Amino acid sequence: MPRKIVSLPGDGIGKTVLPEAVRVLNAAGFEAEYIHGDIGWEFWCKEGNALPQRTIDLLAEHKIGLFGAITSKPKDAAAKELDPSLRDKGYVYFSPIVGLRQHFNLDICIRPCQSFKGNPLNFIRRSNNGFDEPLVNAVVFRQNTEGLYAGVEWTNPPKVVRNALETHPKMKAFKHVPSEDMAISTRIMSRSACRRIIRAAFEYAKKFGYKNVTVCEKPNVLRETSGMMLSEAKTIAKEYPGIELWDTNIDAQMMWLTKNPEIYGVIVAENMFGDIISDAFAGLIGGLGFACSANIGEEIAVFEPTHGSAPKYQELNPSIVNPIAMILSACMMLDHLGENEKSQRIRNAIAKVVEEGKVKTYDMLKLKGGADVFEKGACTTQQMTDEIIKNIA
Ligand code: NAI
Ligand code: MG
Repeated sequence: MPRKIVSLPGDGIGKTVLPEAVRVLNAAGFEAEYIHGDIGWEFWCKEGNALPQRTIDLLAEHKIGLFGAITSKPKDAAAKELDPSLRDKGYVYFSPIVGLRQHFNLDICIRPCQSFKGNPLNFIRRSNNGFDEPLVNAVVFRQNTEGLYAGVEWTNPPKVVRNALETHPKMKAFKHVPSEDMAISTRIMSRSACRRIIRAAFEYAKKFGYKNVTVCEKPNVLRETSGMMLSEAKTIAKEYPGIELWDTNIDAQMMWLTKNPEIYGVIVAENMFGDIISDAFAGLIGGLGFACSANIGEEIAVFEPTHGSAPKYQELNPSIVNPIAMILSACMMLDHLGENEKSQRIRNAIAKVVEEGKVKTYDMLKLKGGADVFEKGACTTQQMTDEIIKNIA
């Protein structure tokens, strides 16, 4: 019986790139049945829930999801687009991908940032005799459920919250701020979640031969939360004698990664910091068209490109967007399922297409997106997929 995969195209270009990844999976001989799951803006507008219960049930049953992207909009816009029959009934918009991560406790987010040789978007560095093009091979482990994105926040905090906070001496500075003029977002981290993400990072480093794991936080300022990450990392690192533990501050790391990105192996961080670091590293390896990710829990895993729904390109037909980020996310799914030989053949095909450089999406040509990119030499989304499929050995 073929394996069942829940296919969650979502919105915008999610609907474009996900079928492309499935074409590549089929071409590599991966046998699966794809079961469609509803998710995204359309379901918020029609049902008041961007993540319907039936989709949660599908994932609970089949365990593996392949996700495209969703559109999120601010509170007011969300309220305005809700079906009139549902208005004022207490529906509140939440991001369905954040919801999925939290519902299934998909607490380990893995974002590999690995350059392909010959990609015109690769990071280059001025050197004494011209330019260096160091190949980046960093893998970001982002704690995916807690920290600043846990969603524990208020504008105009209730009195009990305010009172509780005022037991902290530093709240004196806010004594004269009326509650209605106060916004609070908390950064709560649990020791067990810190340990899980750090251990996952070290295990990955060990399995794939990385020589260092960097904890990227800010323990000199965020003494409690970042402090806990760092102290847990120091403890766990003792179990991995061949792997060095480095620690950097998030701000300094942003500077260093533009100086010597090639020295970093595995990087581990809290939710928001991991989000930032992985986007920054993604910029060095070709940007959102190349950035893939996995969200892994104890039972369930969802694989998705880092990019969003890129609404400004969703109507373009033929499509211009780069399907590689989605295809690489599908490769991560194959790895998770133990189909490493198939994922390697697909990655080799992508590497060959990029290095040959005959077929390039608009981003690889550094063009401004639009319907005119084809006259300027860009290929369509589908042509890129075709070329990759042609090169699968
Ligand atoms: P975005 O990632 O959708 O697009 C930003 C820009 O990146 C695009 O305009 C395009 O220039 C480029 N880009 C993105 N994907 C590309 C691809 N495959 N190939 C080539 N270029 C690509 O981010 P944006 O515009 O900030 O957000 C659009 C919507 O997506 C929003 O509603 C946002 O909330 C949502 N979003 C959803 C995410 C998810 O589903 N996980 C993640 C990020 C944003
Ligand atoms: Mg992001």
